Amino acid sequence: MNIQALINTASALVAGDKGLLAMDESTPTCNKRFAALGIPQDEEMRRDYRALLITTPGLSAGISGAILSDETIRQRTKEGTSFVNVLIDSGILPGIKVDLGLKDMAEHPGEKITEGLDGLRERLMEYAELGARFAKWRAVFTIGEGTPSQSCIETNAQDLARYAALCQEVGLVPVVEPEVLMDGAHTLEQCSAVTEEVLHEVFRHLYAQSVILEAIILKPNMVLPGLACSEQDSANEIADATVTCLLQAVPVAVPGIAFLSGGQPAELATLRLNAMSVRCKSRLPWALAFSFARALQQPALEIWAGQATQVVAAQSALIHRIRCNQAARRGDYHSTDEHS
Ligand code: G3H
Repeated sequence: MNIQALINTASALVAGDKGLLAMDESTPTCNKRFAALGIPQDEEMRRDYRALLITTPGLSAGISGAILSDETIRQRTKEGTSFVNVLIDSGILPGIKVDLGLKDMAEHPGEKITEGLDGLRERLMEYAELGARFAKWRAVFTIGEGTPSQSCIETNAQDLARYAALCQEVGLVPVVEPEVLMDGAHTLEQCSAVTEEVLHEVFRHLYAQSVILEAIILKPNMVLPGLACSEQDSANEIADATVTCLLQAVPVAVPGIAFLSGGQPAELATLRLNAMSVRCKSRLPWALAFSFARALQQPALEIWAGQATQVVAAQSALIHRIRCNQAARRGDYHSTDEHS
């Protein structure tokens, strides 16, 4: 393991005002999003859509790394260039989602465990050979009656740490993604308490597994009220709660925190990130960045809707969202930017 190379990669992922493009939806998830828009759900359409994303002119001005899936990392454009080479040639680091998805946790109704540790070392070695420079593993936690349970938090935290250690061993930077879901009627305060507990447990296990914190990226949820909560807090309140929570639990050695969007409307995710930059950036030990899937892609996907004639319009919608989130990282975003 070349530790300095890992540290350099992690720093590059959160450098300046750039962010990560999460385009690692599993085939079933991608198909579900296609189906909702009447797009045929086959490999060719998935390939065309992902090619649209990575060949967007100017993408590397705002995107440092793109997270691919097992299908996508093996795909080529119609012209025959591998997706990995398209990214590398444009100066974007290729990444790969390596978990195998969520399974019901035995004897824990409503809770999920992430699978994928069996054979992970060999899969990581193959992905590194294919050109990946970083990886991603997502665990989820549901706030509800008696959840998340201690055993769900501990098991997922330990699995995240085992994954992270294996990544670093083969020279991949682990993106560590513990997601407290927005589903439910919980308050901002409840989300904050659960997120903090989860993060403490994750970092306890990362330490136990000897993971080099300078060479990871944390990809957490923002601290948010549940979708069904009667009180929906302002962007400033969410920014303050999120930063306060992260300051309690994330060691200063971590170079960057790149948020997932979690189903927030795209403009709100940007507004909330901007509020964190405006109110707190000068006193934070780590970079705050974005690693959105839906909040970057959804407008572009809706415009494309499977039509070849819509590729350019979809690409400009993607670039627009990226630029808004770059502005949010700088603390320069205004809602009026949406309509300029
Ligand atoms: O694992 C989920 C993605 O990496 C982030 O997706 O921004 O739509 O929550 P999202």
